[in-house]
Amino acid sequence: MSTTNIFTSSFHEQDPRWSAVDAYTLSHLHPPSRPNHASLTHALENSRVKGLPDISSYPAMAKFFALQCRMGGVKHALEIGTLGGYTSIWLATMNPEMKVTTLEIDPVHAEVARQNLAEAGVADRVNVIVGPALDAMSGLHAEIERGDKPPFGFVFIDADKENNWTYFDLAVKMSAPRACVFVDNVVVKGNLVSPEAQGDEMVQGARQVIEEVGRDKRVEAVVLQTVCEKSYDGVLMAVVL
Ligand code: SAH
Ligand code: DHB
Ligand code: MG
Repeated sequence: MSTTNIFTSSFHEQDPRWSAVDAYTLSHLHPPSRPNHASLTHALENSRVKGLPDISSYPAMAKFFALQCRMGGVKHALEIGTLGGYTSIWLATMNPEMKVTTLEIDPVHAEVARQNLAEAGVADRVNVIVGPALDAMSGLHAEIERGDKPPFGFVFIDADKENNWTYFDLAVKMSAPRACVFVDNVVVKGNLVSPEAQGDEMVQGARQVIEEVGRDKRVEAVVLQTVCEKSYDGVLMAVVL
């Protein structure tokens, strides 16, 4: 993963209204009295103290993912790019019957994620696999093909952006009909369509997956632009037909 790109550079696309709206809506819709609130706060704080980058999903998006899983009755989710386990905690705590498989290349990130998942009480339902995601995915794909493992109902692709399309293609092969596959960071402050930004690796990874998915007869998809206190970005959402 690159440490500097347009997303993390000094050019920050921010607007105080975006943070204020999240603060107001979350204070009503996910107040500190919610059972997972303390664990989620702890996960972010522990990740910060351990030096992980501040690039987890933002709360409203992670809750949206967890609610998508609730709506679809998803019991098996796959995440590519664990970081400190923030999104995994949301998925598992909001869906008590769900098992999450999450893939992380960085052993330090994986260790911090395991601490955070244990603190959240979901370590028994979230399997962190350490190593390059492609290696783990080919093993998982083979297990699913053999019928040794059920297909996934939800996939969140959020790792090295140059592999977005490779991950997406494999994710669809590993998913059940009506599964949702999300790809993070596809709008990049609008740089997705900015002529000066076409050399950026995040933009290139986003454009490749959007263009390939547009030709992919296995799915129907859309890109949702999002704003939050961190930035202006967006996700690609695809439903497996
Ligand atoms: N989904 C997380 C955030 C992920 S940040 C959340 O919402 O909290 C991206 C993560 O992808 C980083 O931890 C990075 O180490 C990991 N990553 C980068 N390249 C990878 C690869 N090839 N395989 C697996 N993980 C990778
Ligand atoms: C970066 C990666 C992410 O997945 C994200 O959501 C934000 C930033 C990055 O590599 O800078
Ligand atoms: Mg991301």
